[in-house]
Amino acid sequence: MTDLRDYRAPARLRDGSSVLFRSIRPADREALRNGFHRLSPEAIYHRFFQTRAGLTDAELRYLTELDFRNHVALVATVELDGREQIVAVARFVRLGAPGPGGRAEIAFVVGDEYQHRGIGTLLMAHLAAIARQLGYTAFEAEVLPDNYPMLRVFEHSGLPVSERGGDRMVHVTLELTPLPRGEEDSPGSAGN
Ligand SMILES: CC(C)(COP(=O)(O)OP(=O)(O)OC[C@H]1O[C@@H](n2cnc3c(N)ncnc32)[C@H](O)[C@@H]1OP(=O)(O)O)[C@@H](O)C(=O)NCCC(=O)NCCS
Repeated sequence: MTDLRDYRAPARLRDGSSVLFRSIRPADREALRNGFHRLSPEAIYHRFFQTRAGLTDAELRYLTELDFRNHVALVATVELDGREQIVAVARFVRLGAPGPGGRAEIAFVVGDEYQHRGIGTLLMAHLAAIARQLGYTAFEAEVLPDNYPMLRVFEHSGLPVSERGGDRMVHVTLELTPLPRGEEDSPGSAGN
């Protein structure tokens, strides 16, 4: 398989603006650190299920230095004043031991001012395509019950979705059913 570290896919959002989806890199560490401080308390709580003042160096390393097999992450970037800015991150992390037919936990965060433009929905499509290529069979997610945007992203994915849980947390499973021959999805490209 081509190297997912070089994954990149330009796209246009429904408001007409341009965005690039690309694999995360170790060099994104400071951008993630700074981006965290631009998130609202609500976004942080929905992503981490607790209030947090920032990310530690160890967490930033974990979030940016990936093997792109058991841990895959994409960022969405826009160009602002001629400079690239990361506006969203989405990732999945293998659950359990490596092997065929694996399941992965998926998580998203889109910067507050970039929410509701379709970035979460597009990131979901890219991650599903990548996970299928890597042989995963399902995504799992823990979502706060009032997080309708996240639940909508999952519904929009077109994947079979099941939800269980209750008042405090919803556990979502998305089945990555194999696509019929000839319909394999490939929204992005990985460098050769
Ligand atoms: C959840 C999240 C990833 C969704 O990303 P997004 O880019 O805003 O999602 P989209 O623009 O693709 O929208 C998906 C659906 O949610 C709806 N939606 C998005 N933001 C919304 C908002 N603030 N209020 C109401 N609905 C919203 C959209 O309308 C869309 O539904 P529709 O197509 O039927 O209109 C983003 O809101 C986020 O990062 N939230 C904070 C962190 C978080 O909750 N992470 C999830 C932990 S797993």
